[in-house]
Amino acid sequence: MTRQEIINRLNYLRSQELFAIQQYMNHFYRVKGTTFAEIQGMERSIALVEMRHAEMLAEKINMLGGDPISNPSQVEQMKSSRITEGKTPEEMISADLQLERGAIRDYTKAVIDIGDSDPGIRKMLEGILEQEEEHADIFGSYLSESQAYDIGELKGAA
Ligand SMILES: [Fe+2]
Ligand SMILES: [Fe+2]
Repeated sequence: MTRQEIINRLNYLRSQELFAIQQYMNHFYRVKGTTFAEIQGMERSIALVEMRHAEMLAEKINMLGGDPISNPSQVEQMKSSRITEGKTPEEMISADLQLERGAIRDYTKAVIDIGDSDPGIRKMLEGILEQEEEHADIFGSYLSESQAYDIGELKGAA
């Protein structure tokens, strides 16, 4: 990949992180019911990890001489995307699990596409990918899903 292609890809990944932060914090503030404290803790702690991911991506974009986006809609694919608010805790967590599965696909694809063109960035993305897998496991466990995510599933990845 060229430097500009890597900048664009990192900004795309950053748009996904900023979008996830918005959705998880929305759920953090809105969740009600008997399990609200548990869900609040889960949404908040994962949102904080996504903030760290967004920051790591911005630092790399800066190092490469690019401009980190500050709003997901700055990325073409995200122009008409809206967060899923969800009416029940189950709807919220299901929507969150979908975001994590999308993140796993996107980071896996990015690691493959970057290959040996920048081993430092690839290593950073691999580290983030491991954390997205943990997030999928946390949300999946809450929903009693037997499988948090599928391996080798790149359909729909950017
Ligand atoms: Fe993330
Ligand atoms: Fe995540």
